[in-house]
Amino acid sequence: MSIYFDPQTLQFQLNTRTSSYIMQVRNGFLLHLYWGARLQNGDHSYFFREQGRAAFSPRMENGGGFILDDVPLEYPCWGRGDLRTPALEVRNPDGSNIVDLRYESHEILPGKPRIPGLPAVYVENDGECETLVVRLRDGVSGVEADLYYCVLEEYDVLTRYARIRNGGTDAVRLLRAMSASVDFDHTRYDILSNYGTHCRERQIERHPLQHGRFTISSRRGASSHVHNPFLLLASPTADETSGEVYASVLVYSGSFAAEAAGGQFDAARAMIGLNPEEFSWKLEPGEDFFTPESVLTYSGEGLGYLSRTLHHLFRTRLCRGKYRDARRPVLLNLWEACYFNFDEEKIKRIADSCAELGVELLVIDDAWFGERNSDNSSLGDWYVNRKKLPHGLEGVEEYLKPLGLDLGIWFEPEMISPNSDLYRAHPDWCLHVDGRPRSEGRNQLILDLCRPEVRDYLYDCVSAVLKDGRIKYVKWDYNRNMTEVGSPTLPADRQGEVTHRYYLGLYELLERLVGDYPDVLFESCSGGGGRFDAGMLYYMPQVWTSDNSDAIERLRIQYGTSLVYPLSAMSAHVSASPNHQTGHVTPFETRVCVALTGSFGFELDPTALSDAEREQVRQVAALHKELGEVLATGDYYRLRNPFEETCSAWCTVSADRSVCVAGYVLTHVRMYGNNERIALRGLKPDALYRERFTGETYRGDELMGFGLHAPTTLEYRSILWVLEEVSD
Ligand code: GLA
Repeated sequence: MSIYFDPQTLQFQLNTRTSSYIMQVRNGFLLHLYWGARLQNGDHSYFFREQGRAAFSPRMENGGGFILDDVPLEYPCWGRGDLRTPALEVRNPDGSNIVDLRYESHEILPGKPRIPGLPAVYVENDGECETLVVRLRDGVSGVEADLYYCVLEEYDVLTRYARIRNGGTDAVRLLRAMSASVDFDHTRYDILSNYGTHCRERQIERHPLQHGRFTISSRRGASSHVHNPFLLLASPTADETSGEVYASVLVYSGSFAAEAAGGQFDAARAMIGLNPEEFSWKLEPGEDFFTPESVLTYSGEGLGYLSRTLHHLFRTRLCRGKYRDARRPVLLNLWEACYFNFDEEKIKRIADSCAELGVELLVIDDAWFGERNSDNSSLGDWYVNRKKLPHGLEGVEEYLKPLGLDLGIWFEPEMISPNSDLYRAHPDWCLHVDGRPRSEGRNQLILDLCRPEVRDYLYDCVSAVLKDGRIKYVKWDYNRNMTEVGSPTLPADRQGEVTHRYYLGLYELLERLVGDYPDVLFESCSGGGGRFDAGMLYYMPQVWTSDNSDAIERLRIQYGTSLVYPLSAMSAHVSASPNHQTGHVTPFETRVCVALTGSFGFELDPTALSDAEREQVRQVAALHKELGEVLATGDYYRLRNPFEETCSAWCTVSADRSVCVAGYVLTHVRMYGNNERIALRGLKPDALYRERFTGETYRGDELMGFGLHAPTTLEYRSILWVLEEVSD
């Protein structure tokens, strides 16, 4: 049993493998008592210290005299005694903003309920999870909140979300409905988050939690390149291997907010959920609203353990479908090889050149459809351009088949070009506000996925291409953020619902497609990593990590991404040198070494490779086929931090710890410096390992205690070690 309820003390204790999360009902309020290292079940009532610090805040005369402003709450509401940031705020029919939630009842369920219409962590049998649902209710307005706590004990996580119900007699408006809020009794934490931009996603920023609110958010109608929907709080000394770290990750792809705030009594509150600035929701009597899910996990062993917990969960209980477990094909994407300029002949030449290299799948990127020859037309017109591909996609697929290559293609279904047949036929199908100009981004507008007819159109377009089973892979792109967010299908008082309804529409469409085409590998993309989030991973097990394919830049991007997301989710391709985005000239081995840290492929013109490079490609494709599973499913250890050091290093260790693939890249040479030796982690101390390329043998304790000497000269040089256990 992961959930323990003590009826005497009204305490709930939720236990995961290494953590406990404890709450208690007092004076009708649901209080937060503890989140940290696992404790024995028992009466922990003394954890709550009522200090009664009024400091201008009211005492709840009908709430046992609590000064709510000084009490740790599970789902704080606005309007009565708690003057900190609330998780829930509502506009009542009388115009007031008051919600006063009190404990009503609870139930403990086996398994994990599905959240209607939203992506979420799932279980394969009820034994993997227990769920606590605590019902809170406002006795005046009738507004109810069911707080869901799903405890996946063996996965070492719990997930939280809320169902808000209007139990009153008139419509109410939700102004803010966060997925989770946690109160901490001190502020001695660092905040870690991702920030970035297009081509420089998920950089890591770490700074102390201070008094005042620190928010990362997106109001862009996408989780975005700029921030990522998660927040970590770490003890100030926490590093990769030690210290306490708390994570909350939102399973959502649209506008979000995550906040941590130090308050007046030196306590802190952290929360995550839909961005309240981009949201309001009208709830009619009897209707309910589900927030997206947030995944909460605690590590007492630093960031490394925390990341591995999330990687394991997301890889095995968020990603779905055939490719959750199957090795992903080694693919070659034509984008950087051709951009918009290709035809059937060129594709055939490239295919011939790929065939003997061990590449398994060829991806035709943008511009196979409509009249598209640049980014200024045809999104929405998802029929093959016969001028470029006279024999259609089927002609290409038939050519590839005997070469042992599968075919994949690019789509950008959510978008519409004003210069398209679709727009000419349906100018009202995009998000827009009547009377205002429609701002174009990359010459395109966004389709209104609140409209069922738009979703059906897109389903039919994508289906028409997939239904004969020739296409084995789809790259699903989304190349701008939202402006003029409006849908004429909704009345004025529901326009605040558009962004979230858009995502409910997108998720419905994706659910249909991935359900009907289970053998297709879907890859999410948004100008690279503009929607690299747990929401998209529910539908698509991999994401084009960044439009920046430069191996040196990718060191940071992939390192930052690995804080939360598994390597199997990060598409990483070997691209040309000099790199098209940065101009960096990087050795082939280094580009390979970095790309092997993700879902592996190529993003270059194979006809331009030298014979020596072709031989290298052959070898690396073979190596990937052999080691792909360890790389995708092994435990990942960050060994050197490219944000702080003049190198980067990492290793991935198989579940049985018999194989370790380690990588090292020197990013900056310091004269007579760089005495680098890389100590590995996760090995068996007593086992003997042989390094595949040198034949040298080492004991696990040596590899972890002292490590391996790394190259000290030549910028951008790298080394890949493959260590395999051998018998003595
Ligand atoms: C986006 C993607 C690229 C490529 C182009 C095509 O920018 O991130 O990989 O597919 O679109 O237009």
